[in-house]
Amino acid sequence: MKFTSQLFVASLAPIAHAFPAMMYEAAAADPQLEARAKELAKMLEARQAGADAATALFEPVNTFNAKAQYIDVSKGSGHEYVPPGSGDLRGPCPGLNAFANHNFLPHNGYATVQQYIDATMKVVGMGPLLSLFLSVYGGAIDGDITNWSMGGTPTLAQGGVTGVLGNGLIGSHNKYEGDASPTRPDLYEAGNNYKTVTSQFQDMINHSPGGQVTLDSLTAFRSDRFDAQIANNKYFFNGPFTGVLVQPAAYTFIYRFMANHSAEHPEGLLSYETVQSWFGVEGTNGNYNAVQGTEKIPDNWYRRALEYPYDTDYFLADVVNAAALHPKFLNVGGNTGTTNSFAGVDVSDLTGGAFKSADLLKGNNLACFVYQLSAQAKPDILLGALTKLTDAISSVIGPLGCPQLQKIDTAQLEQFPGYSQKPVYG
Ligand code: HEM
Repeated sequence: MKFTSQLFVASLAPIAHAFPAMMYEAAAADPQLEARAKELAKMLEARQAGADAATALFEPVNTFNAKAQYIDVSKGSGHEYVPPGSGDLRGPCPGLNAFANHNFLPHNGYATVQQYIDATMKVVGMGPLLSLFLSVYGGAIDGDITNWSMGGTPTLAQGGVTGVLGNGLIGSHNKYEGDASPTRPDLYEAGNNYKTVTSQFQDMINHSPGGQVTLDSLTAFRSDRFDAQIANNKYFFNGPFTGVLVQPAAYTFIYRFMANHSAEHPEGLLSYETVQSWFGVEGTNGNYNAVQGTEKIPDNWYRRALEYPYDTDYFLADVVNAAALHPKFLNVGGNTGTTNSFAGVDVSDLTGGAFKSADLLKGNNLACFVYQLSAQAKPDILLGALTKLTDAISSVIGPLGCPQLQKIDTAQLEQFPGYSQKPVYG
């Protein structure tokens, strides 16, 4: 993992000061969350004290507890793999699909915000704020506020009268789901945005020599996917939220959440076989075959230590480090109707001067920019959705001292056909 330590320290220091108080507030209603908040606060202090050893502090080499980290999916555990039936909802997220296939989320793929929070924290060690934000965002933007689908629109039987108004993750193009994903195609390139493409999975493995997928290999793979989609998809669009925040998550989550942990490798190792299982891919290197809907949590799999959950600050540090290596990741914009025609928007014009492209990597600017921009997507159901979302956003950005974003000028984005056209889902 390549760390640009100065940038890294700069991006973390203000967050470390501010987080604990806000964490306690968010966790006040839940004793389990409160205990976790205390752990995270301790971690943040430690991180601040020795930020040069960022990698070690993040994934401490000395922490592994087999009993606590084991995720039992064996026969009789109640979490054995059951493939989805024809009416079950599955979509672009292999993690959530696998959770449903193993009954950590409802098998039909339609769940409450709280169920998403619980499952992501328990099964893979997502931090409380990140799981809160991602899950509430799903409810507000793609669902009926309290429930949402990990696939397409639920049936009346699955979602009830309000549920059918939400389009789920599949129906969330440019709101949640975006372009240049690791193994899924771009919507306007392939007519669908959720089916695993075997050649893209193979490409990820090709970027990861030596039997292991790493954060470095994933970042290089992302850079090549970004360039390939500019070269191949005349409607490629790198949105302010879907491109700048969700796209990196689609890559970093692969290593941060899917790696297997052990006493020998407490920081996590992601072998080809482990990542294959999570993505529902059969065969061997050079001869893979993605079988839609078969995402599995591997046997004998140990998640990351709960002492070091992957939370918003940690994720943001990964986002910043990737962008420091490949500044193009922060280019909001798209192709203009032909391949290789990428044009960027001026972030200052987009945000009424609240942010500047050149300053996005400074201090908390990137976090402030992406989380505030996330509230600009139009919810599938309007009533009350934005209040829930803005509450969740303020629990994430409240302490960051963000410049107040008054409005965004969507005309800046309308010039891109990949943004302005109405999606048709395959
Ligand atoms: C509530 C929590 C979560 C939400 C709302 C969520 C949502 C999404 C969305 C919208 C996408 C599509 C992004 C794109 O267009 O590229 C996606 C992709 C992805 N998600 Fe999740 N996700 C969640 C949790 C997880 C977890 C726990 C994991 C890992 C175990 C995970 C791993 C991934 C990966 C690897 C991709 C990229 C798939 C590909 O294109 O190859 N996600 N997720």
